[in-house]
Amino acid sequence: MKLYCATTNPGKLREFRLIVEHFGGDRITVDTLHNIRDIEAPEETGSTFEENAALKAVYYSQFASGPLFADDSGLAVDALQGAPGVYSARFAGEHAGDAANNQLLLERMHGVHNRTARFVCVIALAEAGEVKGMWRGEVEGRITDDDGVGTEGFGYDPLFYFEPFSATFGQVPAEKKLLVSHRSKALEAMIKALRLNS
Ligand code: IMP
Repeated sequence: MKLYCATTNPGKLREFRLIVEHFGGDRITVDTLHNIRDIEAPEETGSTFEENAALKAVYYSQFASGPLFADDSGLAVDALQGAPGVYSARFAGEHAGDAANNQLLLERMHGVHNRTARFVCVIALAEAGEVKGMWRGEVEGRITDDDGVGTEGFGYDPLFYFEPFSATFGQVPAEKKLLVSHRSKALEAMIKALRLNS
């Protein structure tokens, strides 16, 4: 089965492919919408991960010739009342990159004692403009006290310390992150629901 995936984020796409390989074997292939860069992106107006994932999946599925999934994901920090949350990609501004977002997070967390946080991922599957299902995954960790470590992964990974690994997500290879990540949990749930697990 071929599933289209609506993302322009290379970090996400790499992980999606690895996760599908791991949980779906050779029964699924994931492909991006070839012309996704030519399609104007929808405004992410939702206030929840679910709303934004559904909005993206519905919108992009109109351009796909089969089922398509989109995810909305981000980091929720308890001491910041769940921020940056759905604004994770644009925490430091509309076109901010990972470095600026991470810098701002460290500034906001300066001197803060409670550093618990979680990554959240919601995947919505849609076909011809209609949502077919939605799955959520979460992983608990804490924000590092220092500048963060590691060059693996993307986004906030170097700042996300995961106790069971005694390391940040930026320090572990993608093959290890996928065993526990929010994205894997959501995608694995979708693969199981579609009975595509090998
Ligand atoms: P989205 O593309 O609107 O879903 O935004 C996702 C943003 O959340 C990314 O740009 C990252 O900043 C952050 N994020 C989501 N998942 C991860 C992850 O697995 N590692 C690090 N950052 C993540």
